[in-house]
Amino acid sequence: MQATDAFHFPRGFLWGTATSSHQVEGQQANNDWWAAEEQGGMIYKNQRSGPACDWWNRAEEDFDRMADLGHRTHRLSIEWSSIQPKPDRWDLGALDRYVEMISGLRERDIEPMVTLHHFTNPIWVAERGGWANENIIPLFQKYVERVVRRLSDQVTLWCTINEPMVLVSQGMMLGLWPPGKRDFSMARRAAINLARAHAVAYHTIHDIDDRAQVGLAKHMVVWNPDHIWLPTDHLVARLFNFISNHIFLRAITQGVVRLPGTRPIRIDRARGTLEWLGVNYYQRYRVGLRMRQMLQSLIPGLSGEFLYRGTRPDHPQGPGTWGEFHPRGLYESLGSLMRYGVPLYVTENGIPSQDDGPRVRFLINHLHQLWNAIQDGFPVQGYYHWSLLDNFEWAEGYNPLYRFGLIEVDFETQQRRVRESGQTYGQIAQANAITRDTVGRFAPDLDSHLFGGNHRS
Ligand code: GAL
Repeated sequence: MQATDAFHFPRGFLWGTATSSHQVEGQQANNDWWAAEEQGGMIYKNQRSGPACDWWNRAEEDFDRMADLGHRTHRLSIEWSSIQPKPDRWDLGALDRYVEMISGLRERDIEPMVTLHHFTNPIWVAERGGWANENIIPLFQKYVERVVRRLSDQVTLWCTINEPMVLVSQGMMLGLWPPGKRDFSMARRAAINLARAHAVAYHTIHDIDDRAQVGLAKHMVVWNPDHIWLPTDHLVARLFNFISNHIFLRAITQGVVRLPGTRPIRIDRARGTLEWLGVNYYQRYRVGLRMRQMLQSLIPGLSGEFLYRGTRPDHPQGPGTWGEFHPRGLYESLGSLMRYGVPLYVTENGIPSQDDGPRVRFLINHLHQLWNAIQDGFPVQGYYHWSLLDNFEWAEGYNPLYRFGLIEVDFETQQRRVRESGQTYGQIAQANAITRDTVGRFAPDLDSHLFGGNHRS
């Protein structure tokens, strides 16, 4: 094969997928999402997660599929509400099951990355105010300590918290997820508590195992000005970028939160609590300021939404308000994290799509940008596709438009079928390269785009 016929990745690069407990395990009757599902009103067609992918009973069958497809790592999460269903009750059997799962991964030479918090809280924690109440921090610490003591001999890669800013904005600013609030001061308190909880978890993990590698998964969005020639649109894009992408990371790397117009808030022991950083990258939005609406909003009774967030109709995009698919944004997001000076992982990247064709192209185009990033010296160590298999997609429930799996799941029968995208990804993982053969077989229309020009390889 000629040099230009493949984009090779560094030796030892980790290829895998990501899942989270509530989305795959099933029967999570002790967490706040389950409670919201029971109550109704928040989820697509009032669906309930129910058995999900039944991982509590059959994860190992899917671990076999990962191994067959050449995956070398998997990111999964531990369910706090299973380990500690009540304040004074620790379920050691549940902890044993996680030990078993993680051994199952190791037996198949799949490196586990373990997330300690992926959106869900035990109901009893939610009832005490959840992340908005600072008392959650010592509670979270106790849970982390239990889990890490039990799993540290098998786990090196720890991810403390998944997408803290998404949790805060969906749950406490937009009211779309539990706890279903639209309360800015609550959201602010929760964000600060999440940063503190990350720091506490970091130190707790290191007190138990000084070889541990601790990081977190940060959702990164590309915010572009809607009108390239309007300075106000640029300003809005910069503001969104700062708030959604960087405030939290600044807090945990510098140990202080600085919000425009407010006094700095110290985050105890947070400074330098990252050994790696994970990027969850999905979409781009165009943003800007609508002057007419802004003026209207100054006139009582005539209010208008003056901050615009949208997409270009002619650009490939996801369902609803998902945003645009923009492969170059993966490169840009990774690049923007270089300032934190730690190794990077892509901890999630995927596409909501009922059809698999777009997923194959999404995958190849994004992995090509990942390759470009590595060529340019970005220290990316691994890539976790979201997701291994179709699963319960939060407020979208089992909406067929929000299928993310490399493996299709029939939720009636629990049958699995590896999609073409799963085979594509398997070939890339096994070759540790995007080869011209793989592209020719699964997405021939991309051949000239990827291999036609003078690409480095
Ligand atoms: C992420 C989240 C995952 C998954 C994915 C697809 O924000 O961490 O749990 O739902 O989005 O929407």
